[in-house]
Amino acid sequence: MMMIREETRALIGQWRARVGARPTTAFPAAPTTAMVAPPRSQQAGRRFATSAAKQQQRTVLSTTVSSTTSSGKIPEGLLFGSGGVAAPTMQRPSVEAVAALHSLVACEPINGGKQLVLEFADGSKYQVHTSWLKDSSPSNRGPDFYRTSAADVWKLRDFSIASAKPTEEGQQLEVRFKTQGKSQTDRFEAQWLHAFAPFVGKPLYPSAKAAEVVRGTGSLLKPLHRSRKAWKSDVEMPVFDAAELAASEDAQVKFLENMVDPGIALVTGVGQPEQLEREFAGKPMEDLVFTIIGKLNQHPVRSTTYGVMRKTAESAKQGADYDMSNPLSMHTDHSVYQGTPGYLQFLYQAEGSVTSKVCDGLALAEYVREHHPDAFRLLTTVEMTHSSRNTLYSREGAPRSVYDQSSSPAPFELVHTHPIIQLDEDGLVEKVVQSETKRGVCALSYDVYNEFMEAYELWTQLCEDPRFIKHFDWPEGTMVVTNNYRTLHGRASVPPGMARTMCFGYVTKILVENRYRLLKQGQAEKKNPEMDSRWLTRIPNQVLEKLTTSA
Ligand SMILES: [Fe+2]
Repeated sequence: MMMIREETRALIGQWRARVGARPTTAFPAAPTTAMVAPPRSQQAGRRFATSAAKQQQRTVLSTTVSSTTSSGKIPEGLLFGSGGVAAPTMQRPSVEAVAALHSLVACEPINGGKQLVLEFADGSKYQVHTSWLKDSSPSNRGPDFYRTSAADVWKLRDFSIASAKPTEEGQQLEVRFKTQGKSQTDRFEAQWLHAFAPFVGKPLYPSAKAAEVVRGTGSLLKPLHRSRKAWKSDVEMPVFDAAELAASEDAQVKFLENMVDPGIALVTGVGQPEQLEREFAGKPMEDLVFTIIGKLNQHPVRSTTYGVMRKTAESAKQGADYDMSNPLSMHTDHSVYQGTPGYLQFLYQAEGSVTSKVCDGLALAEYVREHHPDAFRLLTTVEMTHSSRNTLYSREGAPRSVYDQSSSPAPFELVHTHPIIQLDEDGLVEKVVQSETKRGVCALSYDVYNEFMEAYELWTQLCEDPRFIKHFDWPEGTMVVTNNYRTLHGRASVPPGMARTMCFGYVTKILVENRYRLLKQGQAEKKNPEMDSRWLTRIPNQVLEKLTTSA
């Protein structure tokens, strides 16, 4: 922000010198050019893997487990008078007219009003289609944020611009459209136009970069994803307070950013449920997650949005996964679910106090990338199958023992084939999917089988390596939250005689992404009330990122 102000001052200074040294000149092709008023403001074959895996196994066995618990600098060529851009012939506004870089300093309808030239205070200048502008106006949408008419798209070609001018000291653009003998006036926020222009406009200044292109849905959390830092056993567990999370959207923003990096958190003060029966045990967690993000992902059969695990002989009958005396290797959840819908995982300690452990899949993946590149290639390209048949619930959605011959399950099948380490288009670790107990029968090709299985053995040993495992205390009434695309977790250690009830639930990545989008829109509007939902909704994340970063 400070840099923006300094750069703005420099820009103002250059304009001041130029305005003082040159008489104002009308834009040749546009004697009626509208000017702004003063401003408001990422092979060694099987041999490598065998030796690496054995070496890693020795490391695991010999290591002691810890028991403790667009503000970039403006290119000079963008500045008028720097020699990089020909000084435009439009009449220059006064010094005060450039308080904000996105301010509109001039505009001009051209080609019979079918296009509009927009010039901004940072020296950028674009030509946009009139039909794009009309099609994008907030006046086309109703209170439900949908377009009011499905027929308007057929009328766009009829519109031209009769006149246009910057208003509100360059913070807005006023456009009078004409169509079939009628006219109507719309107003646009200059900041919104400035964010869209690199995507939809034809650049008219020499130093302009290639047009930006929106590809895919994108994510406002992408910059954070790119800057993640791997952590090991000595990481500090971030702690959030439930009441503050429920009350503060700013705290929710920080929480969601925290769940991208480092991808672990403890939420204290969640409280105890009114009853420990399954219909009630997870309510405090369910209610809190609903407040800060949205509804927990619904299981295909289970009647509740969350599952319940108890340290009782009865619970163990439900299956090995629910038998807390059965040790589990470090794993991610939802490995058998195609696409891994459980992006964030919530583990709520409704009853009992225990210790547990997590490790950073990103750290494991980066370790393999650096020290065992052939294994990394195999783990990121060869696909493995996780699969199971779920018979854990009755047709009523209630938990049932898999050994119970007297009750009928509501069975469903699950299969998910994927690389253990999934990379994104930039080669960054996107997701780690690991669960040895849920690994299915893999159809690995004959030629790759031996070297892949050696790499996988190395990987599973690293997952148990104490150098990477964080141990922590997990008291009653608190919730452990993990980024299930990144963080692996293990079976908690329950003190002898300790009764324990733990509830677990998930939310999807899409829900998290869109909740974050809404929260960031809210923050931007608080900073600048003029930039409200008219301008922040219905737009691609790539454009919104510019608006929420600069707002
Ligand atoms: Fe788990």
